[in-house]
Amino acid sequence: MKGVILAGGLGKRLEPLTLITNKHLLPVYDKPMIFYPIETLVEAGIKDILIVTGGNHAGEFLRLLGNGKEFGLKHINYAYQKGEGGIAEALGLAEHFVDKDKVIVVLGDNILDKTIKPYVDDFKKQPKGAKILLKEVDDPERFGVAEVDGNRILTIKEKPKKPKSKYAVTGIYMYDKRVFEIIKTLEPSNRGELEITDVNNDYISCGEMTFAMVDGWWTDCGTHESLLKAGNLIAKREGPK
Ligand code: G1P
Repeated sequence: MKGVILAGGLGKRLEPLTLITNKHLLPVYDKPMIFYPIETLVEAGIKDILIVTGGNHAGEFLRLLGNGKEFGLKHINYAYQKGEGGIAEALGLAEHFVDKDKVIVVLGDNILDKTIKPYVDDFKKQPKGAKILLKEVDDPERFGVAEVDGNRILTIKEKPKKPKSKYAVTGIYMYDKRVFEIIKTLEPSNRGELEITDVNNDYISCGEMTFAMVDGWWTDCGTHESLLKAGNLIAKREGPK
């Protein structure tokens, strides 16, 4: 199974911090943000990793991460996303890299408390389709929100004003190779992006989506509040330095 980390975008919600660097290079406690999703994948046994980035600071990723020796990797693959086409467009750039394999996608600003290995191992056994990870949160309107009935997902709404549940769709997605065919059929949303939620709803409507609830805490770092929260959660976990 291949791993793709999406680390593009302009990080508008984090300005002025992101005026002179990429969001995913900002510090979260004692490490650059991008270290956490790499560690999450490596720890789950994924060694074949592509980082998709963009904007004016893409070169900095190479300078920081090199070939990934620090993470026990022999090599890291990089791709460049031009413009602001959204998460699904960025994933589309991974088609050659993933080829006929399955893929796990992690948004570069998503940080987890615990291992995702059990979910990855489950998806390896899933004959086809997709799997996403959900987490109960107090502010679901900030995320994609899943409507769930027992062990079935009915639909996902992207940033709904009146969320039908508290289950946020985390930025950890697992797909079979059909994902690249779905991406080619997408139309830009109101915010002018190809939405990963549209990809997920396609799998749901085909009855090919499974999900699991994340164990331990999960946070994104897309706003000043969540970036601070992430730093505090990591600091608490690591203990005093
Ligand atoms: C993206 C997705 C959203 C998901 C979130 C998780 O939102 O569109 O469905 O819940 O990541 O971090 P964004 O942060 O790009 O607005």
